[in-house]
Amino acid sequence: MAGPLLDIEGLNVDFLTDQGWVTVVRDVSLSVAPGETVGLVGESGSGKTITSLSVMRLVPDPPGRITGGSIRFDGRDLLTLPERAMRQVRGNDIAMVFQESMTSLNPAFTIGDQIAEAVRHHLGLGRRAAVDRAVEVLDLVGIPAPRDRVDHYPHEFSGGMRQRAAIAMALACEPRLLIADEPTTALDVTVQAQVLELLRSLQQRLGMAMLFITHNLGVVADVCDRVSVMYAGQVVEVADVVDLFEAPAHPYTEGLLRSMPQLGVRGEPLATIPGNPPLPWAMPEGCRFHPRCPYATDACRSGAPALTERGGGHFSRCLRLAEIELTGAV
Ligand SMILES: Nc1ncnc2c1ncn2[C@@H]1O[C@H](COP(=O)(O)OP(=O)(O)OP(=O)(O)O)[C@@H](O)[C@H]1O
Ligand SMILES: [Mg+2]
Repeated sequence: MAGPLLDIEGLNVDFLTDQGWVTVVRDVSLSVAPGETVGLVGESGSGKTITSLSVMRLVPDPPGRITGGSIRFDGRDLLTLPERAMRQVRGNDIAMVFQESMTSLNPAFTIGDQIAEAVRHHLGLGRRAAVDRAVEVLDLVGIPAPRDRVDHYPHEFSGGMRQRAAIAMALACEPRLLIADEPTTALDVTVQAQVLELLRSLQQRLGMAMLFITHNLGVVADVCDRVSVMYAGQVVEVADVVDLFEAPAHPYTEGLLRSMPQLGVRGEPLATIPGNPPLPWAMPEGCRFHPRCPYATDACRSGAPALTERGGGHFSRCLRLAEIELTGAV
């Protein structure tokens, strides 16, 4: 098998806050193979966005700082790349789509000009060819009458169309990796489904790899090959998507599955995970999930578990895995 396209190892990110320096991403390792879609899931504040911004080297500094680890893309460590080379990587090799499309679109310029500007810069096309390329990618993402639409401003598009335009802009330079950070969360449900379907078909057609960030396990089941589950700045489980749903290997993942209205667990009422994730300056000793874990014992309060492979590329960070029985989704 070819090596990973993206290979994050031991990533640490700290932020300077009112409480002093806190670690918000802790020893995170994650890989994405060429053409693969990897889901990154976890509750709000678990470090998903900061992990993906680290890949783009866009963590705001100050107050943030990447303090450890390596991020290899196609063999090159992005963390030591000169800024000039990194600018080439952004857009050309790795592109990002955000939850709110206006993060990537500028209200003052037409959609066409923005896409054309990106491809002129990254692909070195002339003006005419760049506009043609803009029309082509707007067509690709299913925007009707792209020849006319190219001259419209972002505010003239609906929310769903704007998100399609942001995706078009990300795809215009044919990146090898697309990072999609909650790309459908701000959209209403039917448009969400359309944009997801679009991403899935584009990903297959263009053969690009995707790192797909979401709160929503239902979406993970639809689009991802493999999943990393994050909790309180750490990866707690990594598995093929089918394994994750059928045989979760971390109590947190089990809790997420049980709280999924679309899935649920056979014969059991819908449950939420009690309590809240810890704040970065008040991380519990031992396993970070122990205060909310129904299986926690004294050992979990003192010993910090390592991420360990239990076979078949399925990793878990739980001390008690051998002693407990977790339930998957139907
Ligand atoms: N600029 C910042 N200053 C201080 N702390 C920050 C900053 N940005 C993020 N953090 C902290 O880093 C942690 C991880 O945040 P991150 O945005 O990566 O979470 P997330 O998993 O993407 O959450 P969400 O699902 O809400 O998008 C959080 O505790 C957050 O408060
Ligand atoms: Mg986020």
